[in-house]
Amino acid sequence: MKVTFIGTGSMGSLLIGAFLRSGALQPHNIYATNRSSHKAELLAKRHPGLHITHSNVEAARGSHIIFLCVKPLDFPSVISEIRDVLTADQIVISITSPVLIQMLENLIPSKVAKIIPSITNSVHSGASLCIYGKRIQPENRILLKQLMSSVGTPLALRETETRIASDIASCGPAFISYILQQWIDSATELTGISRREATILGAEMLVGTGKLLTEGGFTLEELQQRVAVPGGVTAQGLAILESRLQGVFPSLIEVTHRKYDEDLSKLEISFNNIAQNTRG
Ligand SMILES: NC(=O)c1ccc[n+]([C@@H]2O[C@H](COP(=O)([O-])OP(=O)(O)OC[C@H]3O[C@@H](n4cnc5c(N)ncnc54)[C@H](OP(=O)(O)O)[C@@H]3O)[C@@H](O)[C@H]2O)c1
Repeated sequence: MKVTFIGTGSMGSLLIGAFLRSGALQPHNIYATNRSSHKAELLAKRHPGLHITHSNVEAARGSHIIFLCVKPLDFPSVISEIRDVLTADQIVISITSPVLIQMLENLIPSKVAKIIPSITNSVHSGASLCIYGKRIQPENRILLKQLMSSVGTPLALRETETRIASDIASCGPAFISYILQQWIDSATELTGISRREATILGAEMLVGTGKLLTEGGFTLEELQQRVAVPGGVTAQGLAILESRLQGVFPSLIEVTHRKYDEDLSKLEISFNNIAQNTRG
């Protein structure tokens, strides 16, 4: 199987590394290309046998699966470049939320899916969000599900849920680590605990909490009730969070959705231009 990655920045190289470590792909399966070639060359050094090329067209030609790992606004130029060599039996995957499946299906003959990975996939953990286009066949779903299961937990979603699901699954590690960092900063400043100790405690707590929620049978509410005995310290701490976090998450969701809408509008214009140029 030939699997191509166009764009080997943060997420492209993360996915390649995770698939190789899991054994789901071997270096000889992978063809990688990047605008600035040094990133792809570094990958080839790290994973002997992996193919790199300087041409997106060459990388896409004859590939079974093509992961497009570029930023949203780079999609139109990549699609314009490779569309003539794409065929109906190939699977083209966007890893970014504002590129709608329909936008790609309008311009290319291939089967299209959107798979939003998460940095947590680099440690074979966390979810990846899978949205399948109308040309994807049951056997394609099985293949993609198998591939993504090797690096985490694939969850099939509707496209309208992609942004909010990405906020939680993909942006979540940045948001949660920011909150933990603020907590640790205060802990070191106010109590003298070392940053190293506080960070280990916080990280282990996150892993354990995740396990309780995924394997331990707890709901979020049950977890709070179980730890916060009435009149105890946890209950006092929860009361502070309840009063101070009011409005924070609605604002966070508003801002991520606004940025998504901006990217979507720009992309609609660029993709329409490609379609018009084709017709003209
Ligand atoms: N970061 C996350 O946790 C995360 C999670 C899920 C999804 N995503 C999505 O993943 C996408 C990529 O994010 P990223 O963090 O990996 O960005 P990134 O580090 O900037 O990587 C994008 C790569 O694409 C390359 N590129 C741009 N145009 C190209 C072209 N025409 N041909 C070949 N390569 C090209 C860039 O090359 P240069 O070196 O020349 O710039 C860069 O290395 C984004 O759309 C993001 O929404 C990110």
